[in-house]
Amino acid sequence: MLNLEGRVFMSNLDDPFRIAEREIEKLKKSTSVVIVDFHAEATSEKIALAWYVDGKASAVIGTHTHVQTADERVLPGGTAFITDVGMTGPTDSVIGVKKEQAITRFLYQTTHRFEIPRGPVHLCAVLIDIEEKTGKANSIERIHIKS
Ligand SMILES: [Fe+2]
Repeated sequence: MLNLEGRVFMSNLDDPFRIAEREIEKLKKSTSVVIVDFHAEATSEKIALAWYVDGKASAVIGTHTHVQTADERVLPGGTAFITDVGMTGPTDSVIGVKKEQAITRFLYQTTHRFEIPRGPVHLCAVLIDIEEKTGKANSIERIHIKS
């Protein structure tokens, strides 16, 4: 498992593309199955990284936006990918935060304490089938369960 953070609309860190290449190569010495969690804001950066490591990583799972995308697929090289897996948490919220608090923050541009609302919840996930010998993904299935 490799966790990377993007640079677009986020604080400037080291290059996730070059780090991915280097770290996947290292992990491949001890396992054929390498899952990449790419914590990034920009969909383009997440898609580009998935193409960059297609055939090297078993899966690239985008995170951070909290909103599940409907673009799951296995790329030609055998890397399963989804731009964002989504969140597990309160449905009547703004990405997990009480909606009133999030709206106040946008209205007044001030910082406020965020709280998690009670009520209906949903679970977002993906189910990925990977060949253990080759590390290639056979399929990726998007899961979104509402309470
Ligand atoms: Fe985040």
